[in-house]
Amino acid sequence: MSNQQLRITKPDDWHLHLRDGDMLKTVIADTARCFARAIVMPNLKPPVTTVAEAEAYRRRILAAVPEGMTFDPLMTLYLTKNTSPDEIRRAKASDAIYAVKVYPAGATTNSENGVRDLNKVDAVLETMQEVDLPLLLHGEVTDREIDVFDREAVFIERHLQQINTRFPALRTVLEHVTTQDAVDYVLEASERVAATITVHHLLLNRNAIFEGGLRPHHYCLPLLKRETHRQALVKAATSGDPKFFLGTDSAPHPKNAKESGCGCAGIYSAPVAIELYAEVFADADALDRLEGFASFHGPDFYGLPRNDDRITLEAQAWSVPELIRTGSDEILPLRAGTDVAWRLI
Ligand code: NCD
Ligand code: ZN
Repeated sequence: MSNQQLRITKPDDWHLHLRDGDMLKTVIADTARCFARAIVMPNLKPPVTTVAEAEAYRRRILAAVPEGMTFDPLMTLYLTKNTSPDEIRRAKASDAIYAVKVYPAGATTNSENGVRDLNKVDAVLETMQEVDLPLLLHGEVTDREIDVFDREAVFIERHLQQINTRFPALRTVLEHVTTQDAVDYVLEASERVAATITVHHLLLNRNAIFEGGLRPHHYCLPLLKRETHRQALVKAATSGDPKFFLGTDSAPHPKNAKESGCGCAGIYSAPVAIELYAEVFADADALDRLEGFASFHGPDFYGLPRNDDRITLEAQAWSVPELIRTGSDEILPLRAGTDVAWRLI
């Protein structure tokens, strides 16, 4: 008997870290092999804050795409307290830029230049609403008194509700949602509010960070949450609701930067991403909804055409590499050295 196959419209990744230099050259093929486009995060060092920088970064990405592969990077600007409404207008006019990213300062990797006071960027949000450029949010507060597992829920309560009330027409993506609270909020909000969901938050709960010892390769931000939250995410992703779409947040770091006394946050999922999403949807008995989540809801939200190409996934186990070499570094992918049930043909 032949293995089960699933043929779907080629997906896109609506939240991706590609890095730069050697790392970019190593990781780009892992995304381009199965995603036609990706919303590329601007948290380089230094961050991508201007249209000119985003266009230059886009050229570096395109130059790194291997022969014979196609990939369309959709660029974003990193909002700082100095971002001007004029830069937003230039971003809208550029055909390279599709959104603006807000990192609360200190929330995650390379967020030092992020926004310290969300009440002080009104002029920019106003302009984004006016020109219709989507706002992408790392939705976590940074206050040290707030428990790290509660930071997403508190962000929604303190900031997101206000932003959505004050700028009702602003398209907003609450990125990499991790909690039932976030799912509930997005469901109740207007159709201008959506969320991306990573594959690691669909697969793992917070026990995975401590399984038999400290597991730095399961450390990401926002943190993995308890099992009830994971189940809420699976329910949202597999519901068919167009407010939820695929965003891997694949975020490679050198192995030694993760296996450290103060390790970096980020999970490198690109080499196994679409296969693991298929695993999650198959386990939830919702394979027929994978195409909507992975290939339709994202472009529909952004007002972009759906892809014409197709990919085929097959229910056949394969083994993920233990390590991926990049320059003088190594990266450990999600599920390194273990089997994945679905394979990309
Ligand atoms: C991301 C990174 O490494 O750039 N890390 C992560 O844990 N997700 C930043 C981010 O998206 O928070
Ligand atoms: Zn990210």
